[in-house]
Amino acid sequence: MHVLVTGGAGFIGANFVHHTVRTRPDVQVTVLDALTYAGNERSLSPVEDKVTFTKGDIADADLVDALVKDVDLVVHFAAESHNDNSLHDPWPFVRTNVIGTYQLLEAVRRHGVRYHHVSTDEVYGDLELGDPTRFTPQTPYNPSSPYSATKASSDLLVRAWVRSFGVQATISNCSNNYGPYQHVEKFIPRQITNVLDGIRPKLYGTGENVRDWIHVDDHNSAVWAIIDRGRIGETYLIGADGEQDNKTVIELILELMGQEPKAYDHVNDRPGHDLRYAIDAGKLRTELGWEPRYTTFRDGLTATIDWYRSNEAWWRPQKGETEARYGVLGR
Ligand code: NAD
Ligand code: TYD
Repeated sequence: MHVLVTGGAGFIGANFVHHTVRTRPDVQVTVLDALTYAGNERSLSPVEDKVTFTKGDIADADLVDALVKDVDLVVHFAAESHNDNSLHDPWPFVRTNVIGTYQLLEAVRRHGVRYHHVSTDEVYGDLELGDPTRFTPQTPYNPSSPYSATKASSDLLVRAWVRSFGVQATISNCSNNYGPYQHVEKFIPRQITNVLDGIRPKLYGTGENVRDWIHVDDHNSAVWAIIDRGRIGETYLIGADGEQDNKTVIELILELMGQEPKAYDHVNDRPGHDLRYAIDAGKLRTELGWEPRYTTFRDGLTATIDWYRSNEAWWRPQKGETEARYGVLGR
C-alpha cells in the first residue's frame, strides 16, 4: 500500500508517519507538507530514509493531482490548526482547511483513491461545565471559532463527496492531543517550555475550561483502525476519557517539573473561549475494537515533559517568535 500523508511535518502527521514506519513496514509513505510556521521537516529526520517528502500546498490542484494519482490512500492531516491564530487572521484557515480539502477531494474522486479525513471535536462547539453530556456522532455541528468553522466546513465537503460522488472516505473527529513534536504555541508544550525557560506558565481566564486529552499515538492507532476496519461514509469520534480542566493541567506540569504548583499567571482570556469538550468514543471502541494505550494522563505527561527536556534543539527555534506573538495579545 502507498499512502499520501498531508501535513506529515506537523505534530500529529509526523507522529502518524513515525507510527506507520514503526508498525507497518510494508506501507510506502509519501508526505505532502507546505512547511508553514507549524511544519518542521526535522520532525521526520528519524525516518527520512523511509519516507518521500514533497514540499507543497494542498491547495495546488496540479501538484495534488500528480501525487494522488500514484497512491492507494490519502490521510489528510494538513491544516491551519491554532484557534488563537484563527481569531487574528482567518484567511489562511479558509484557504487551507476548506479549499485545500476541496482539492484533495476532487483528486481522490478523479483517481478512485481511498481517503481518510482527520478532524476535530471542536466542530461540535462546546459543552457546559459539570454536565454529563459528551459529543457523539449525532451531536449537531455548532463551531465557535474560525478554526473550528473551517474544519466543520471541510467535514461537510467530505460527507457531500461521499454521498454525491461515491468517494470512498471516512472521517474522524478527535479531542485535544498531546505528545512529542507539538508546536510550542499549543497549551501543554507552551507551559513545559516556559518552565524550562524560567517563564511562569500562562493560564487563560479562570482556567476552568475542560479539554479531553488523548496521547497522539492513541489518536494515530485509532486512525489506522478506521482505515483498516471503518465503514465508508462513517464518522468516528476519537477520545480516551481524558477530561481535565486547564488549571489542573498547569498545576500538574509544574508539580512534575519540580516547581511550586501555584507558580503560574492568569492572563487575558481567549475571545469566545469554548468551555468544555468531551468525547464519547463508544462507536470506535465497540465497532472497531480500538482501545487507547496511554490511560494515565500523568504518565503520558511525564513522558512528554521528558521529550521536551531532551529535544530543546527541536523547539528552541519556534519559542521566541511564538512568545512575541502572544505578547502582542497580552497572553
Ligand atoms: P499542526 O499545525 O501541528 O500541523 C499542520 C501541518 O500542516 C504543518 O506541518 C503545516 O506545515 C501543514 N500545512 C498547513 N497548511 C498547509 C497547506 N496549505 N498545504 C500543505 N501543508 C500544509 O497541526 P496538528 O495539531 O498536527 O493537526 C493535524 C490535524 O489534526 C488537523 O487537521 C487538525 O485539525 C486535526 N486535529 C488536531 C488536534 C490537536 O489536538 N492538535 C485534535 C483533533 C484534530
Ligand atoms: P490549545 O492548545 O490552544 O487547544 P484548543 O484551543 O484547540 O483547545 O488550548 C488548550 C486549552 O488551553 C484551551 O482551553 C486554551 C488554554 N490555554 C491556556 O490556558 N494558556 C495558553 O497559553 C494556551 C496556549 C492555551
